Amino acid sequence: MPKTPKHIAIIMDGNGRWAQSLNKPRIFGHKVGVERVRDIVKYCRNDKEIKILTLYTFSSENWTRPKTEIKGLMNLIKITIKKEIRDLIQNGIKINIIGDISKLPKSVCAELENSMLKTENNDKLTLNLAINYGSKQEIVNAIKIISNKVTSGEIGASDIDEELVESKLLTHPYPPPDLLIRTGGEYRLSNFLLWQTAYSEIIFNNKFWPDYREDDLESDINTFKSRERRFGKISEQIN
Ligand code: IPE
Ligand code: IPE
Ligand code: MG
Repeated sequence: MPKTPKHIAIIMDGNGRWAQSLNKPRIFGHKVGVERVRDIVKYCRNDKEIKILTLYTFSSENWTRPKTEIKGLMNLIKITIKKEIRDLIQNGIKINIIGDISKLPKSVCAELENSMLKTENNDKLTLNLAINYGSKQEIVNAIKIISNKVTSGEIGASDIDEELVESKLLTHPYPPPDLLIRTGGEYRLSNFLLWQTAYSEIIFNNKFWPDYREDDLESDINTFKSRERRFGKISEQIN
């Protein structure tokens, strides 16, 4: 039986272009994008085999966007979390933020911290929100933590291995994504989970995120199931 991905990560791209194609402001696309987040979270919550959903929400590079768009996005994050918190608690969804949220406006940061606290014991689905997240920065940080340990003599350079590096990444202790989906028709990773996607199956879906529905996810999951993950082996060793 083909396996359902246990961990799905999504680069939710295309909100702005979707809105612009309708002659609407970009923020309208982000607002409709939030509706799709709700649908997709619900889908994953109801599939018992999916345990982790990681959503790229705001990248460390997105600070370079026009101030009004950033302001709109921050506000949207805040009001969405506030509005959804009760449902998240009731549905057993655990919120985990990856990224440096201390750089966000105070009220947004407080709302996110509160959501993590209130959902910390939930275990039906872990929803990792990548906010002010950048994978290169994450790796640099891991290197800093490890080099401090070497400098202090706590460990030797020969103790550095993949497991140690992974333990210092923001996604620790979660396993890497089995499936990475990017909507919006761009074929790049944009500084998302560079280490963790070493063996993820990648699907580029051309739909803009506000058009991405549950049946699109279902179809992408079916594509995932039809693939053979060889991890360096040959086919005969897998089957
Ligand atoms: C993704 O949609 C959401 C964020 C980056 C916050 P975009 O805003 O990048 O939409 P496009 O790619 O410009 O259409
Ligand atoms: C990636 O999308 C970030 C998020 C989806 C949050 P971008 O729209 O920022 O990526 P680039 O700039 O096109 O690579
Ligand atoms: Mg984009």
